[in-house]
Amino acid sequence: EKVVLAYSGGLDTSVILTWLKEECGYDVIAVCVNVGQKEDYDAIYEKALKTGAIKAYIIDAKEEFITDYIFPTIQAGAIYEEDYLLGTSFARPLIAKKLVEIAQKEQAVAIAHGATGKGNDQVRFELSIKALNPYLKIIAPWRVWNLKSREDCIEYAKKYKIPIAQTKKNIYSRDENIWHISHEGGDLEDPWNEHQTNIYKLTVSPQEAPDTPTYVEMDFEQGIPIAINGERLGALELMNQLNKIAGENGVGVIDIVENRLVGMKSRGVYETPGGTILYKAHKMLEKLTLDRNTMAFKQIVAQKYAQLVYDGMWFTPLREALAAFVDSTQQNVTGTVRLKLYKGNCIGAGSKSPYSLYNEEFVTFGEDEVYNQKDAEGFINLFGLPLTIQALMKEKLKKN
Ligand code: ARG
Ligand code: SIN
Repeated sequence: EKVVLAYSGGLDTSVILTWLKEECGYDVIAVCVNVGQKEDYDAIYEKALKTGAIKAYIIDAKEEFITDYIFPTIQAGAIYEEDYLLGTSFARPLIAKKLVEIAQKEQAVAIAHGATGKGNDQVRFELSIKALNPYLKIIAPWRVWNLKSREDCIEYAKKYKIPIAQTKKNIYSRDENIWHISHEGGDLEDPWNEHQTNIYKLTVSPQEAPDTPTYVEMDFEQGIPIAINGERLGALELMNQLNKIAGENGVGVIDIVENRLVGMKSRGVYETPGGTILYKAHKMLEKLTLDRNTMAFKQIVAQKYAQLVYDGMWFTPLREALAAFVDSTQQNVTGTVRLKLYKGNCIGAGSKSPYSLYNEEFVTFGEDEVYNQKDAEGFINLFGLPLTIQALMKEKLKKN
């Protein structure tokens, strides 16, 4: 029988590949989904076959990741626990989708993944697989076998002569894609330890960033970023350029303690350089183009949307319904935003839109012809009527 394995080429998934073959008797099809993590994909392909896979796939899903997962989440303004831009969370359903597609094509009976039994990723992979194909069996070796640690893995690898790259040098558990890189584990497990800036992969520390600000202009069409500094770019080129500009200016690092879905808190450092610019720019444009009620309700939606994405509920009716609401709010989110990047900061420096609801004629502190200040008196009298009635009642009680 065939099993499709989510394969990264690293130690853990190489051990899993061998384990599925040797211990469970499966024919293993290794699938590595490229969502923008920097790897030598030819080497991963070769390694999968050398480690015993009957077949290997490298799937380039970068473009789909950006347009179908990243962009809708930016439009929603979804941020988990007010900080986390969901970089790992929304890559998992896409990876799961690719695994399911190949499982169906290859008539595999199961999908295996290398997420541990303690994290969010297992939930995200498995909910997505269940939603897309309820017949596939799911194998999560970390929850099943008796290897307890990385050291056990290394022992196992030695036994089966699996090539081990830089053992023990990798103290951090990292997850990288075109949107972000996460760092967890090692000295970060004590939240009182300051993270060392030499862990960064996509950004420089603010101290190392240039002493003069970098300006960047972003164009959006209906909430979708389409150009940088006036130059129209495809989704992939746009993300790459933004990551570079933001990274060079130290923009997009957060260091947080978060609540995992499975109950415990964890501490992580996240670099989301280009994404941080995109969230900020998109929000500025919404401030110019959305009316107050829509904006307020959208914030509620954003919070729920973020929780659904974090919890692995991408392929659910509710996430899709919220996305439809978000879509409808983006009709007029078209225009240009100017940002100033400076030593880790991303500062708004201007915004304009043909659909702008900002009206200088109305808001000016100078003289105007359009707004009658006398109207405000009646408005405040009625808006404040409940307060007046309440206060009158209290006065009456005092007298009695
Ligand atoms: N805590 C983050 C999340 O749950 C990052 C997880 C990183 N995953 C990993 N396999 N290293 O989205
Ligand atoms: C893992 O446990 O596999 C990584 C961390 C997470 O999923 O939250």
